[in-house]
Amino acid sequence: MANVAILKIDGKDYELPIIEGSEKERAIDITKLRAQTGYITIDSGYLNTGACTSAITFLDGEKGILRYRGIPIEQLAAKSTFTEVAYLLIYGKLPSDVELKKWNESLTKHTLIHEDLKRLFHGFPKDGHPMAIMSCMMVSLSTYYQDSYDPLNPEHREISMIRLLAKFPTIAAFAYKKSIGQPIIHPINKLDYCSNFLNMMFSVPAEEYEIDPVIVEALNLLLILHADHEQNCSTSTVRLVGSSLANLYSAIAAGICALWGPRHGGANQEVLEMLTYIHESGQKVSKMVEQAKDKNSSFRLSGFGHRVYKNFDPRAKIIKGAADKVLSKLGIKDPLLDIAKELEEVALNDPYFKERNLYPNVDFYSGIIYRALGIPTNMFTVMFAMGRLPGWIGQWKEMIEDPGLKIGRPRQIYTGATDTDYDTAKKGK
Ligand code: ACO
Repeated sequence: MANVAILKIDGKDYELPIIEGSEKERAIDITKLRAQTGYITIDSGYLNTGACTSAITFLDGEKGILRYRGIPIEQLAAKSTFTEVAYLLIYGKLPSDVELKKWNESLTKHTLIHEDLKRLFHGFPKDGHPMAIMSCMMVSLSTYYQDSYDPLNPEHREISMIRLLAKFPTIAAFAYKKSIGQPIIHPINKLDYCSNFLNMMFSVPAEEYEIDPVIVEALNLLLILHADHEQNCSTSTVRLVGSSLANLYSAIAAGICALWGPRHGGANQEVLEMLTYIHESGQKVSKMVEQAKDKNSSFRLSGFGHRVYKNFDPRAKIIKGAADKVLSKLGIKDPLLDIAKELEEVALNDPYFKERNLYPNVDFYSGIIYRALGIPTNMFTVMFAMGRLPGWIGQWKEMIEDPGLKIGRPRQIYTGATDTDYDTAKKGK
């Protein structure tokens, strides 16, 4: 295999190094391209651009492979817990029993938020979207932790990572309680990460909430499946903001905003709204599929298609199986699951979806499980963010610890007006 690529411009040859990853993926290194040739590259939407090298997550979109630190997602989904996966993503290895115990204790110890911060919840309208509240709360946390702002200081990094992971579920549950007018429920240290979150969401002072192990297991699974997905839109946002050496809280707040979009994490809310619409309106599934194919309509089948997976999304496969299992264990019969399956069947047999390699993605079935767990629809994307948090943190840490760290700063090719005189422009001449 060649280890250089030759680029010919104006009759002159330039040698560009080829680099290879541990899974034999190959890239042309253009780091010195502009300095050597005066040219830049254009790659709208970054379809061909590797923004970094990373040792965290490997995915092969053609083969439907996803591995965290080399371990297949199917094995982690079957054997691990969310906090163990968080450790794996952030520190690069599975923790020993002692390390895991210490890690879980740290995450438990930092769950409370400053009393003054709680007052911020009262400033939001009752129906404010929880993703907006989460982003605002994450960046607001930074005002309380000015002692640990510096991303280049390893101790500051460590405590910021733990604080964010520990406080995210508390803040998410508080936001929900505020939106439904119930008193907030404080974290309880004897509960594990997922049980604690469920208790803060569903317990009321008048009545104890019985934590169902089926629900805890399902939540662990969903969070694990969402925990990292290499350089997607929100992770790239976290890296870009973090590359300016802004504190971690700010970078995470920006990542939450990026995830909110309906073409990214916001799709899980849209899937459920779409399925509910089909159910309530009696709309035929085939009609929705026709509308999604219509180029005069901006409607897309939410939960279908993926920038990288062009065969199947391994997470969707696991979630589809889990949806059946969880609903039957909980004794729930959800007509939306039947509609989802019918929609999948119709779309997968339609040439439009086949030709474009559009398959159900992770968001297609996750909403049905969240609904069965009692999570309200507008909290679905918050659940995604909770799952993705260790991935964002691990990717940020990897970037900050790289001695070659550079601020992210893409270039452009300018296509606007050339040098224009102010007075001439004012007169419209
Ligand atoms: N329904 C109908 N048509 C679709 C869909 C869809 N869900 N997704 C893609 N297409 C079509 C596009 O119209 C386009 O058609 P064309 O070639 O005739 O113009 C073609 O398939 C390729 O689509 P692009 O948008 O160019 O593909 P890209 O890789 O840029 O986008 C994306 C991927 C954003 C996920 C897209 O498939 C989509 O919008 N899906 C729906 C939203 C969704 O489910 N997002 C969640 C993604 S997973 C995640 O973020 C965790």
